[in-house]
Amino acid sequence: MLVATRPETMKITKIKEHIGAIVTGIDLREPVAAETRQRLYDAAVDNVVLIIRGQNFTPAQYQAAAELFGELMEDQNRRYLVDGFPLISVLSNRHKDSQGNPAKIGTNSTWHTDHTNQECPPKFTMLYAVEVPDKGGATRVCNSRAAYEALPEDLKQRITPMKTANTLISSARFKIANPDILNDQLESKTPPMIHPLLRTHPERGTKAVWFHKSKTEMILGMTPEDTQEFLQDLTDRITQPEFCYAHEYQKGDMLIIDDRSSLHKAGFDYDHSQHRLLYRILVRGDRPF
Ligand SMILES: [Fe+2]
Repeated sequence: MLVATRPETMKITKIKEHIGAIVTGIDLREPVAAETRQRLYDAAVDNVVLIIRGQNFTPAQYQAAAELFGELMEDQNRRYLVDGFPLISVLSNRHKDSQGNPAKIGTNSTWHTDHTNQECPPKFTMLYAVEVPDKGGATRVCNSRAAYEALPEDLKQRITPMKTANTLISSARFKIANPDILNDQLESKTPPMIHPLLRTHPERGTKAVWFHKSKTEMILGMTPEDTQEFLQDLTDRITQPEFCYAHEYQKGDMLIIDDRSSLHKAGFDYDHSQHRLLYRILVRGDRPF
């Protein structure tokens, strides 16, 4: 007797040469074959950001889908979590601060990669769109591997030995930081975490520019002021349009960003009377080298 097999409907379509791919025709609430899982994983790594469209998750289903991509890790910001799901954090423009007032919404986010103050920052950042504004509020992602490869040779050589000292929040950012996070930094006794500015991808061997400007206290050997200026200049060079993609969300999108080859940036350019609600999950990564 022939056993009917479900036709493979999943389609992965590249968005542009250097960055992004969109996945349709898969429901991650259903069991996923090992081969399909591997295709999705490779597509996320190769394209730096993968958008899986049309999902309809409960928090438990979202977490199970995220686990297809590795072991999950806690978000270091423990203030806003989905009830009963300590590994899912809530990004919303309707949060309250510790005083019960509407939390300060950023308007000027910087390009960054997540949790650089930790020894082992996440390999993937995942975002699931629960509520989205009519327009705007895009998450921007830059392929900092392709951008690195396009840098002039002398700059490549100059940044190769550079190391960053990372804290929860750099002193250069103190004036504009959320007061709750600032307190965490002031009370923190942990020494800065030293990481390379140029990161080698542990699975591909490629190099990418890799930093969080607001968490970089200094590049070793540079003053904090010169560091901020240098990183801004480097950011301007690498975030050229051909290396970047701005994702405007549809409800049900699951974004997977390979943090080891990219920088990203939140978007605040939307009507703030509308709710923008994303669930974030982080997948554990290795120590950068
Ligand atoms: Fe981020």
